[in-house]
Amino acid sequence: MREVRAEAPGRVNLIGEHTDYHDGFVLPCAVPQRCVVELRTRDDRRARLWSRQVGTDPFEYEVGAEHRTSSWGDYVQGLTWVLSQQGVALGGFDLHLDSNVPLGSGLSSSAALEVAVMRALRSAFDLEIDELQLARIAQRAEVEFVGAPVGIMDQMAASLAGERAALFLDTRSLAFEQIPLPGGLELAVINSGFTHQHAGGDYVTRRRESEEAARMLAVEKLRDVGLDRLADINALPDVAARRARHIVTENARVLEARMALKAADLQRLGALFAASHASMRDDYEISVPAVDLLVDIASRHEDVFGARMTGGGFGGAIVIAAAAGRAAAMAENVSAAYSSESGHRAEILIPTRT
Ligand code: GLA
Repeated sequence: MREVRAEAPGRVNLIGEHTDYHDGFVLPCAVPQRCVVELRTRDDRRARLWSRQVGTDPFEYEVGAEHRTSSWGDYVQGLTWVLSQQGVALGGFDLHLDSNVPLGSGLSSSAALEVAVMRALRSAFDLEIDELQLARIAQRAEVEFVGAPVGIMDQMAASLAGERAALFLDTRSLAFEQIPLPGGLELAVINSGFTHQHAGGDYVTRRRESEEAARMLAVEKLRDVGLDRLADINALPDVAARRARHIVTENARVLEARMALKAADLQRLGALFAASHASMRDDYEISVPAVDLLVDIASRHEDVFGARMTGGGFGGAIVIAAAAGRAAAMAENVSAAYSSESGHRAEILIPTRT
């Protein structure tokens, strides 16, 4: 019998939204919120899962006989299912999960869970997989077993990103680079109080619409369309034009944001955040009025370089580039103004209260 403990963080994406399933660029950071896993191996093939957030009754299944249940246990079943597809023989285990990554806020609680569990399985069963393979297995579990057709950003971020560096990732080659955040920059993340649902409708619809736009432009992935083809994009039918324009301009913004971070040009970074939000709001249509309001209020604050929605969209959180040392006070201020203007309750996720 073996007992191991592992963990993985949630992530906040600085810029590059919905670009990953088009082989594009993303720029996420890890957040302090994380999923912690304690795993003990068993002599049989039974898996028993407890989640501190879900309740007392364990979710149980037989390793090697996974079956989809549309409940949280599927995220773990998906991992052992992928491993068995790859010919890896695992034994049973008892597993306790505890996560403070908020659900449905756009901080990717699911990838934190998947990567934490994979790390625990890796050490308990001596699996020879590196961080990159681990992210690939986690994404495959979510796409093929859970049934959410996501890209690979979140799993790569949970596996490889740090809190004081942005992970610049090319989702086609999976080449990545850690870019330290400039000293003058502090990030804030505020949840709008509206939650999203991934496996369901809207994310899938956007993915399909953008894939349709790619077909019209005669490419498989919009990564292969540059800004030089904006005239072709604008000539497409309205919805296709807007979906393609978002992906193509967003990819260009990620590359610029990477340079702005390296040059510590925070004004430029802020302007890119603003342009990214406008593109998500008007072209990709993945924002909601409450989130737009929160972004507007944050953007007007004197200690803010720029703000935008982060994550899959249709609610969730915004990320704010703020002046170092000012994020906590600014976030209090912005949340209070949002609550009184909208009647909804904002929640400050970063900076975390110590
Ligand atoms: C979700 C998905 C990611 C990515 C983002 C949007 O978080 O899991 O793969 O597509 O949405 O950028």
